[in-house]
Amino acid sequence: AKEKSAIFIIFGGSGDLAHRKLYPSLFRLYKSKVLKDHFAVIGTARRPWSDDYFRETVITSLEDYFDDDKEIMEEFAKHFFYQSHDVNDSEHYIALKNLAGKLDDQFEAGHNRVYYMAIAPRFFGTVAEHINSEGLKTKDGYNRLVIEKPFGRDLDSACELNGNISKAFPEDDIYRIDHYLGKEMVQDIPNIRANNPKLEQALNNKYVSNIQVTLAESIGVEDRGGYYETAGVLRDMIQNHVMQIIGAIASDDPKAKEAKVIHKNKCDLFASLKELSPEEVDTEFVRGQYDTDKTGEKKAYRQEDNVAEDSNIETFVAGKIEFNTDRWSGVPFYVRSGKRMPDKSSRIDIVLNDKVKELGIRPNSVVTLLIEKEDGNSILINGLNYKDAGQDFIEFPEEAEFDNAREAYESLIIDILSGNRVHFTLWDELRSTWKYIDTIRERWDSQTPEFPNYISGTMGPDAAEMLLERDGNSWIWD
Ligand code: BG6
Repeated sequence: AKEKSAIFIIFGGSGDLAHRKLYPSLFRLYKSKVLKDHFAVIGTARRPWSDDYFRETVITSLEDYFDDDKEIMEEFAKHFFYQSHDVNDSEHYIALKNLAGKLDDQFEAGHNRVYYMAIAPRFFGTVAEHINSEGLKTKDGYNRLVIEKPFGRDLDSACELNGNISKAFPEDDIYRIDHYLGKEMVQDIPNIRANNPKLEQALNNKYVSNIQVTLAESIGVEDRGGYYETAGVLRDMIQNHVMQIIGAIASDDPKAKEAKVIHKNKCDLFASLKELSPEEVDTEFVRGQYDTDKTGEKKAYRQEDNVAEDSNIETFVAGKIEFNTDRWSGVPFYVRSGKRMPDKSSRIDIVLNDKVKELGIRPNSVVTLLIEKEDGNSILINGLNYKDAGQDFIEFPEEAEFDNAREAYESLIIDILSGNRVHFTLWDELRSTWKYIDTIRERWDSQTPEFPNYISGTMGPDAAEMLLERDGNSWIWD
């Protein structure tokens, strides 16, 4: 990509997300010269830091990820500036505006602004409105608003948030992040489908027995107990990441190139989610919460910091999702995500039926897309690297082109700077997925689960196995 110019204003610039994800990604872009001379980063947060101190924190966090010479990090850090900021104080926005203007002149940043919300979600709306009312937006460059998750905690709060930001920014300038959409395999799914006609021909209820999406993590909630208590894995992973993965694999027309068309296909798919009745929630979804591990060394969820001793928040979920479309009706999408599972694994298993014979595919084959490519095998057929599987219905770009080292955030930032909204979520998609998730949440909130119900380091509660066995199926990853 060619050099981009912009002033980034990072709200929450002293925070964890900024230091762990954004600054390392910006640094990679700096090294690849996508960011070179014409950019600056303003970090804002409440605490009163100097530019120098801010730069030091940036360099310190870079040192965790890179072993480049300190000199290049220092050059990079010269583009960083700090402004202490109270989100409710209008004066502070004026100060920000002036600083951004000054840096724009100094770095010739083309009057482009990226407003990045890396703060607590309850401030998203306030900040967006102030950016607008205090006149931070430039006239002759772009003004893009980047929103981190969580985008609401249910349909109502998401609606309210969306209402607030929409008053300040037109939809086309809003970039809602789902970092799974920045992952290379997820981005490649449409290409894989478009380039492998037999696979694409098989992707419907005539040939698919079921599709399984697993986002398993081996870690617990770590130091995020406070946030997690307001979320749970249903909100943290299913409503967003899992749904978006399903969107990539199941929406129509993978050849579509235009953002508008791609988004419409995804919106249509999510609009056809088969709603659950409260009673169906009991049979189609399973929740779990981790206990200590076999040795008793690890903390149970209820013992984690900032977690209530009697918390009913789920750290594991498995469920069966269906769609009311001609293409997919009758095909179960089994989804599963949890903390403290045996391994970190993000994968899609497409279980084909015996009719695929007529397409020249061995009956009952399983095609697995590994979202994280730890071992070089990113597509498996029946558990083998697709090249060694003895069936040739899948071709995939050379391994070299598939560079897993690239951070999801890096590619998303390039998209933001290029005005490419394909890999961001639209409000319509969120509305449908929240609506679906709310039914589950409401049912669960009305019942008291028997938690904890799975040992750390296992595959979750037994009920997660039963969910598939009942249909004569089983998890491919187990
Ligand atoms: C985040 C969740 O969105 O995704 C975390 O809030 C989770 O709880 C993380 O750990 C997983 O992302 P990745 O990229 O490590 O699979």
